[in-house]
Amino acid sequence: MFKKIGIINSGGDVQGLNAVIASAVIYGSKLNYKFIGFIKGWEGLLDMDYIELDTANVRGISHVGGTILHSVNKGRFAGKAGIDGSKNKIPDDILQLAIDNFHKLELHALIVIGGDGTLSGAIQLSEKGVNIVGVPKTIDNDLNSTDQTFGFSTAVNVAVEALDRIHTTATSHDRVMIVETMGRHAGWIALHSGLAGGADAILLPEFDFHYDELIKFLRWRKTIGRNYSIIVVSEGAKAIHEEVSGENTGAPEIKLGGISEHIMKKINEMAPGEFEIRNVVLGHIQRGGTPDAEDRILAKSYGAAAVDAINNEEFGCMIALKDNKLIQIPLIHAVDNLKLVNQDSIAYQTAKRLGVFMGKEINL
Ligand code: F6P
Repeated sequence: MFKKIGIINSGGDVQGLNAVIASAVIYGSKLNYKFIGFIKGWEGLLDMDYIELDTANVRGISHVGGTILHSVNKGRFAGKAGIDGSKNKIPDDILQLAIDNFHKLELHALIVIGGDGTLSGAIQLSEKGVNIVGVPKTIDNDLNSTDQTFGFSTAVNVAVEALDRIHTTATSHDRVMIVETMGRHAGWIALHSGLAGGADAILLPEFDFHYDELIKFLRWRKTIGRNYSIIVVSEGAKAIHEEVSGENTGAPEIKLGGISEHIMKKINEMAPGEFEIRNVVLGHIQRGGTPDAEDRILAKSYGAAAVDAINNEEFGCMIALKDNKLIQIPLIHAVDNLKLVNQDSIAYQTAKRLGVFMGKEINL
């Protein structure tokens, strides 16, 4: 008799989701499991909206971006972990509906692929006795419990390609180009893409920046004949004494965005006519398209490891990458803390050594 596993992916999509799904189904089928995939994450479980997944219909999807299961980051199950790891409580009747449907569908376990919001929902369901194995997912790479999430590498590569292109137009026009990346409250995408893409300044959420120092730095570059500058700014970055740029939509988390435009206006105000500035918001192209090789391998490994955990009856855990090994950690610790850039981060130190302006003092 086979056992049935349900797959849920929820929250923002990332490159590599399909690779996790395909890998879990291909490997799990060998171990005699059957699979269903819920449409639009938790909503699919609540509405009993799902498709059967087998080795035939997951063939050829691993290299394709997005998710064949579709996804939402809102909905009745939208538990959201805050920057301090706190979580919104999902109403009891919604949790109960999910549990009832889990049993109606005669599921043995759920593989839940998600970031902090999705996993904080998974924790609450797991606490009610549902067999769950989590798989971490976010382009932001901000889960402290795992060394790397799939999607991050591709997002960085997309941003680097954009920076390479922006360089040539910046130098041709002697402009200051401000490039805004995603990443929420963690600056990893900005830091890694900025370092790889040769940014002159990198502004991160973790370190408030100073406008006067930034302008001093841009002026200094002109004195040494660098009439253009590339500033990479993470969407969650802010100047000292300012608030983050974004929109309060009523959701648990502020919708971030707009910092590059704000910086452009501010420099124009503080140094009128001195610099010609343009801003570029990379936005969702960082999350779209084909996963790179690193993300495919990571995603496939996570998918197979999740099946292994289920096969070993290890539930209430999340697969984590630690020191190049896939391990299981208690789901409860999956969203404990955000992993933020600090001054010891290798890329941060390297950028500083190379003279990249990191928000405060100029390192000439
Ligand atoms: O968490 C992933 C992420 O892409 C963030 O970097 C970004 O702030 C957010 O999601 C965007 O969300 P949405 O797709 O809802 O605009």
